[in-house]
Amino acid sequence: MSKVATIKIDGKTYDLPMVVGTEKEVALDITQLRGQSGAITLDPGYKNTGACESAITFLDGEEGILRYRGYSIEELAEKADFLEVAYLLIFGELPTQTQLQKFNTDILDQSIVNEDMKTVLKGFPQTAHPMGVLSSLTSALTAFNPKSVNVDSEEDMYRAIVKILAKFPVLAAWTLRKKNDQVLYNKDTNIGYVESLLKMMFQDDNPKKSYRQNKVVVNALDKLLILHADHEQNCSTSTVRIVGSSHAGLFASISAGVSALWGPLHGGANQAVIEMLEEIKADGGDTSKFIAKAKDKDDPFRLMGFGHRVYKNFDPRARIIKKAADEVLGQLGVDDPILEIAKGLEKTALEDPYFVDRKLYPNVDFYSGIIYRAMGIPTEMFTVMFAVGRLPGWIAQWREMRLRKEPIGRPRQIYIGETKRSFKEIEKR
Ligand code: ACO
Repeated sequence: MSKVATIKIDGKTYDLPMVVGTEKEVALDITQLRGQSGAITLDPGYKNTGACESAITFLDGEEGILRYRGYSIEELAEKADFLEVAYLLIFGELPTQTQLQKFNTDILDQSIVNEDMKTVLKGFPQTAHPMGVLSSLTSALTAFNPKSVNVDSEEDMYRAIVKILAKFPVLAAWTLRKKNDQVLYNKDTNIGYVESLLKMMFQDDNPKKSYRQNKVVVNALDKLLILHADHEQNCSTSTVRIVGSSHAGLFASISAGVSALWGPLHGGANQAVIEMLEEIKADGGDTSKFIAKAKDKDDPFRLMGFGHRVYKNFDPRARIIKKAADEVLGQLGVDDPILEIAKGLEKTALEDPYFVDRKLYPNVDFYSGIIYRAMGIPTEMFTVMFAVGRLPGWIAQWREMRLRKEPIGRPRQIYIGETKRSFKEIEKR
């Protein structure tokens, strides 16, 4: 029997249907509430609001569980590769060998980026942040791919998906090449998705100089991208869904997602963590001073890479990344003093009642920057790497939203401004 919740407003009772998910999560369906009672629900930051039903990612913040399409993040990070996970997220099932091969070939076929995009890139100053450039270039792609996606055609949808998966890493690599004023390369179609991204970023300007891939770096990046691939209705994903809900195209929606990800409270935290750790190091390494600053309500400083809207126990991605940071730095022979500062900061924070009481734990961004740094990726590129990882999630969520024919996203508000008043001529004000 379906569940019902009852609420009372001004003495009148209303029955609200309840929705129960496959993992027994419950929600009150308030879609008819305003029509019946005149009341809306108010929830700034959507802290307690479900914006959709979704079959892509399950996470339980209290238990520290994260699963893509039912598969645990721990298992996927260990056994799958990034393109396999992308396919899983977007199409719902792990690919067969044949499906994966076709997916890869179709992506490779679309990997050449229009030469005119280089002219667009040229227009940016070298000082531009790579995330701003990436968002603009992704948006500019629409100009070179004017046909909007016919979401009723599986073929059309598939073509748009492989196109953005193919071109996005090229644009990501170009944001770095632009920063360094280097030659722009297209994808090497003879190597894997993640390997070619690294090659486009780091190949010498002289194409004849051979480029040697480091297996440790490729594997570590592959794992990081999997860990970032989706995270249900976070800020950037909700942005992608809401932009797409107006029937804006896939590329335009993804470009908006890149902008949302950039902020330091979201994906931009990976850059902010390294800057914070560097600041602590330059200041002599006293972590307790920075813990005190983070606790001081008059000080805007926050412990970057700490806390999460949903995880209130631990972030399972952070656990995997912390272990990977030790392994990767060890394998690459990198001795980075900020890894020790990060561990010290984590230890101190986890013993401090301020962080314990508020259930603030390291999130995915706390250790990821240390690995990116060990791989030789510049700090300003960290959030770009996150965006490449999150791309399959954005695509999957956009596709799901369109296939489910979700209505345009349009929240309501409670108005708190002036009530009606008369206009006064300027000389009488
Ligand atoms: N340092 C110090 N105090 C913190 C931190 C932090 N990093 N995070 C939360 N708090 C405190 C808040 O001040 C608040 O305290 P109060 O109850 O005394 O007022 C309490 O913990 C709850 O915090 P909120 O800001 O209300 O939590 P919210 O869910 O809105 O924010 C967020 C979550 C944005 C992630 C926050 O924890 C934060 O700013 N963290 C640092 C930035 C960061 O690492 N972002 C990456 C998140 S992961 C990702 O997006 C990929």
